Amino acid sequence: MKPMGTIPADFAGTPLTIAGRSAADWVATAGDTPLFVYDMAAVEARIARFRAAFAGIDLHYAIKANPFAPLLAAMAPLVDGFDIASGGELAMALAADKPARTISFAGPGKRDDELAAAIEAGVTINLESAGEATRALGIGDRLGVTPRLAIRVNPEIELRGSGMRMGGRASPFGIDADRAATVARDVIAAGADWRGLHIFAGSQALDARAIIETQAATMALAGRLAEEIGVMPPLVNLGGGFGIPYFPGEVPLDIAVIGEALSETRANRSAALRDTRFAIELGRWLVGEAGVYLTRVVDRKESRGETFLVVDGGLHHQLAATGNLGTVVKRNYPVSVATAAAEAPTETLSVVGPLCTPLDRLADRVTLPVAQVGDLVAVFMAGAYGVSASPTAFLGHPMPLEILARHS
Ligand SMILES: Cc1ncc(COP(=O)(O)O)c(C=O)c1O
Repeated sequence: MKPMGTIPADFAGTPLTIAGRSAADWVATAGDTPLFVYDMAAVEARIARFRAAFAGIDLHYAIKANPFAPLLAAMAPLVDGFDIASGGELAMALAADKPARTISFAGPGKRDDELAAAIEAGVTINLESAGEATRALGIGDRLGVTPRLAIRVNPEIELRGSGMRMGGRASPFGIDADRAATVARDVIAAGADWRGLHIFAGSQALDARAIIETQAATMALAGRLAEEIGVMPPLVNLGGGFGIPYFPGEVPLDIAVIGEALSETRANRSAALRDTRFAIELGRWLVGEAGVYLTRVVDRKESRGETFLVVDGGLHHQLAATGNLGTVVKRNYPVSVATAAAEAPTETLSVVGPLCTPLDRLADRVTLPVAQVGDLVAVFMAGAYGVSASPTAFLGHPMPLEILARHS
């Protein structure tokens, strides 16, 4: 038997309820499985916790984590900005009625048509290179629109212990810190609407001390750059990287401690940042724990002494849970038999999906209550990087259903 991660407190009861209704009820409402259910109250609770810990700091949502349209529409009035990474996400953010001036667009390889759409809409471009700066200015000229431009900085800092480090090395992301001030001065001199700095050092960190150190180093870097640039940045996006506990032994972040440290760091900032606003940009921390992926048991089989529950969902919808997105060793996300009564776990088995690859394993030798064909198996921690980060076209299975759950 292998351990699995801890089921989020929002869903800890047995049998499983989501926003006050059973899993079977949500499946009946949506019409079928596989189904992602996102509990809006759980998202709102995370936003409230952020607000309590980070007074005076803006909260941005990185919509790549979950761009489900009803979720974006519900989050739009609750957060200060949306961060987008493509022309497709631009359309999604605008469709959610997020005002363009609150949207920022980062990511390497922005095509001219994406830059034009963003500049025309009035979205801030986080410039990833000197070449992109030149193209953005040219496109602004051609359109007769002053582009809103910020510099994404490739910092010397890396976020220690993070699942994905994005600083401290040669990188396609951002302009190297030692060249960032020059590019900033050039775009300001060219007449751009100067929006400030974006410094993102990593993601999925569960070590509060590492985040505190990174934020302090990021603030110091922003101060040095602002002094060099000589024009105060209206906004400094300090990055994010708040992780969530997917796996056994992982402990949730204490964000109150991070908030206290940041408020001290901010109080001691460079005078060159005196009137600057600051933002933290989060994806998975806001939505990851709020999502449950519901699949139905299609088959039970024994093979060489092991039991397999074969379900109708898998890596084509929830790649990360199978250990194939950003992890090297397969560890188990929390799972449960959503239709089981309050019974103690009694059998050890693996939960596998319908794809003809051994990679399609949602849970490896976990102990669960006995489930039969027709029962529902829930995979937790499914609110971020599920549909939007999985190979949904692989093997021609249908797209999953998605639903935003609210307490009635
Ligand atoms: C620039 C940027 N912002 C935000 C995020 C979101 O990270 P997370 O979902 O871990 O908060 C990422 C992740 O790739 C990113 O690259």
